[in-house]
Amino acid sequence: MDAPTSTAVIEGLRAIVGEKACIEAPGDMQPFATDYRKLYHGKALAVVLPASTQEVAGVVALCAAHKVPVVPQGGNTSLMGGAVPDASGRAVILNLRRMNKVLEVDTVNDTLTLQAGVTLQAARAAAEDASRLFPLRIGSEGSCQIGGNLSTNAGGTAVLRYGNMRDLTLGIEAVLPDGRIFSSLRGLRKDNTGYDLKQLFIGSEGTLGIITAAVLKLMPLPRATAVALVAVQSPHAAVQLLTEAKRIAGQAVTAFELISAPALALVLESMPQLRSPLADAHGWMVLIELSSGGEPGSLDATLLSVLEEGMAQGLVLDAAVAASGADAQNFWRIREEISDAQTREGGSIKCDISIPLSKIADFIAEASAAVLALAPDARMVIYGHMGDGNVHFNPLKPKGASSAQFLEANYARVSHAVDGLAHRQNGSISAEHGVGVAKRDDLSAYKSEVELELMWQIKRALDPDNLLNPAKVLPQAA
Ligand code: MLT
Ligand code: ZN
Repeated sequence: MDAPTSTAVIEGLRAIVGEKACIEAPGDMQPFATDYRKLYHGKALAVVLPASTQEVAGVVALCAAHKVPVVPQGGNTSLMGGAVPDASGRAVILNLRRMNKVLEVDTVNDTLTLQAGVTLQAARAAAEDASRLFPLRIGSEGSCQIGGNLSTNAGGTAVLRYGNMRDLTLGIEAVLPDGRIFSSLRGLRKDNTGYDLKQLFIGSEGTLGIITAAVLKLMPLPRATAVALVAVQSPHAAVQLLTEAKRIAGQAVTAFELISAPALALVLESMPQLRSPLADAHGWMVLIELSSGGEPGSLDATLLSVLEEGMAQGLVLDAAVAASGADAQNFWRIREEISDAQTREGGSIKCDISIPLSKIADFIAEASAAVLALAPDARMVIYGHMGDGNVHFNPLKPKGASSAQFLEANYARVSHAVDGLAHRQNGSISAEHGVGVAKRDDLSAYKSEVELELMWQIKRALDPDNLLNPAKVLPQAA
């Protein structure tokens, strides 16, 4: 881009969002241009912080007129490099954090209408203030934003019971690549008037439009919860235990999270203030949560029945049941810290696999053998949403080794081995983290020609100049 164009664009941006909301100093832009795991280091022409949908539309239209790429950004917690620009310095980062208003809590329609920059934590708090639950639950809830949750179709630890972001959304508002505004903010549970256009924007990682607001579903706030950390014989035993839990507790099964021994050890080593509630070390654990609208305490006996059945069948080796809300929070803290503990070690090889539940345990065994054949010393950090057939399969460098060297030597071959195995078993290579840059080119190997053609046709129809979050999601060779 020539100097007069970039000057005109920056002056135009300032006029739309105001001087204070337009950042141009390289040092100030750097945190916006670097991803959460510090693996992608981009550069930007400017960072803008619009305060309204109209301002977002103005910025996008201005950039479209000058053929300047726009990278939408929420809390910048993407694990796939999806929310940062490339290193060319041509793109404008459009960060939505100033659009952080809860617009309406409707306790009759059971809906929450809010701007895209509201954090997940604030959305959950707004629901709770009205004695309702907004059920999306992920470890980064304090910083991730609803717009990012929508654009990646976020999942997390309660999908088993409530579904992912797509299931929890009734309407969205989005700014299109030419600056027009699409809106379906009507809070309808039924609307069969043609294509469900909002679905184009959910999960497309800002490549088709910038989500600026949404209407989300609210659920009854659970009154009874029961939580246990359970040592199991193996991943196969975990799957059988889940089947028993569903038989005994039915819909109350809210979370069923797998944790491998290296995943637990990593958290406990890096956070000495946390302690495992289990007396001994075990190869595999599951964190189970039951919840319902019944009387507080009413699920305690149900959870015990699940554990007794698991012990009787030889699936369960040991279990710690949370005796209080604080205990339960501590159990969850251990699980939720696994992600950051890997980042502190320099980042792992991120594979985010889903497989039909009936095959997930075999997959874990086969993929582990394949990884250890390639990187015999890797720490097998395997954890996640077993109840959804979704595991985060994240081989990590051996203790004390150089992270850069480990990732350089192993990232491509290990992730191809794991993803290839998942693909051959009809699984997905990105269950809930999206594609971003990290998995972008891999899609050529894992999507059919028809799927890739359709994706490009939709992209070109909405964004013919390829300006919205370019070089994300779609394989560049196609
Ligand atoms: C999680 O389940 O903890 C998140 O998806 C983040 C991660 O896997 O790193
Ligand atoms: Zn996850």
